[in-house]
Amino acid sequence: MVTISPSLLSADFLDLKTDLERLNSVDNLWLHLDIMDGHFVPNLTFGAPVINKLNTVTKHSLDAHFMVTNPDFYAEAFRDLGIHNFTFHWESITHHDRFIQKLKEIYPSVGISLNPSTPLSAIPKYLLGKIDLVLLMSVNPGFGGQKFIPEIIDKVIELDKIRFDHKFNFQIQVDGGINDQNAGYLIQAGANNLVAGNYIFSEPNKDYLLRINKIR
Ligand code: DX5
Ligand code: ZN
Repeated sequence: MVTISPSLLSADFLDLKTDLERLNSVDNLWLHLDIMDGHFVPNLTFGAPVINKLNTVTKHSLDAHFMVTNPDFYAEAFRDLGIHNFTFHWESITHHDRFIQKLKEIYPSVGISLNPSTPLSAIPKYLLGKIDLVLLMSVNPGFGGQKFIPEIIDKVIELDKIRFDHKFNFQIQVDGGINDQNAGYLIQAGANNLVAGNYIFSEPNKDYLLRINKIR
């Protein structure tokens, strides 16, 4: 089954507790946390104190997506927050192998994210064998509610083929502009973890299960 990872960025920040409780009634979700530092992307979100609090309410695994210029700092600073998956941007660092080794010692799941314009060939095959997730951005990172870039579907197909050919186990996660119109194509292409913010949280009656089921 495809895992859906609702992005908290589009939740009601004045009533996060209620939104988190609503998501608790849905199974097989991750909770996607977009950590932005105002440098790697032109936006700033939330940090450790907020994550600490929301982890007392949510029952879902925390899926942290770091859009920051210094993920090494966050790997240390956020180590005791109960984060399940730590995804960093390939573009943000130089010593990928060393950093992945470090993350594997701290976090149960480690992911690499690629901006839309970063090709799959940027990641050497041997590193793909060491990680748990590849996040393909289907918008330019920084903001929720942007338009899906359809060319990413071909990137998912290409990555799925690499995964199959090398018997790799990583999940393929796609993030940005996902809705009931494009989710089917992504799943068919090989994606098994879809992040969705605006589409889920804009449901007029806050019936998030309805939108999650439409994606599934
Ligand atoms: C964008 C973030 C996404 C975003 C997804 O930089 O990484 O997780 O919140 O939101 P939607 O689904 O609204 O594009
Ligand atoms: Zn994200």
